[in-house]
Amino acid sequence: MKTIYLIGFMGSGKTTVAEILCEKLDVPLIEMDSLIEKREGRAIKEIFAEKGEAYFRQLETSLLEEIPLENMVVSTGGGAPINSINQKLMRRGTVIFLDASFQVIQERLSQDENRPLWKGKEQEKERLLQERWPVYQQVADITIDVEDKSPESIADEILNVWK
Ligand code: S3P
Repeated sequence: MKTIYLIGFMGSGKTTVAEILCEKLDVPLIEMDSLIEKREGRAIKEIFAEKGEAYFRQLETSLLEEIPLENMVVSTGGGAPINSINQKLMRRGTVIFLDASFQVIQERLSQDENRPLWKGKEQEKERLLQERWPVYQQVADITIDVEDKSPESIADEILNVWK
């Protein structure tokens, strides 16, 4: 199978769904944020604060360049599909957009302090989602509406549509 890339906004459930997909497909998981944190020896929040967002974005692109083209499930960072080079790299595989509403995202991230771009006024956060939404939609081969669905049922839906 071609490598599957899960894309979507912060809090859309990419990692949880990716873990289930990996089990069902018996392939390894690449969780981009965790791998970047491990390699850099610090949290994303610290990478942004100490080296800046542009540095983090370069790390994302380098990682995407390394990922095998087959037999992986990749949970991407919410900003990864914005860069056109990253889009090309991901489109070598199957790209699946987990489409969550702002309301759901907001509830899930209400206590979150680890995501440097989840900050500021509610309107600014919503605007970021609105700006990114068409990009996610355009990059994806498959869009899955994740509203009111369990991670397990989302994974099953992906497998049904994808196979
Ligand atoms: C980001 C999303 C985060 C992480 C970083 C930047 C973004 O990943 O890569 O904080 O730009 O949306 P998650 O989507 O896993 O939260």
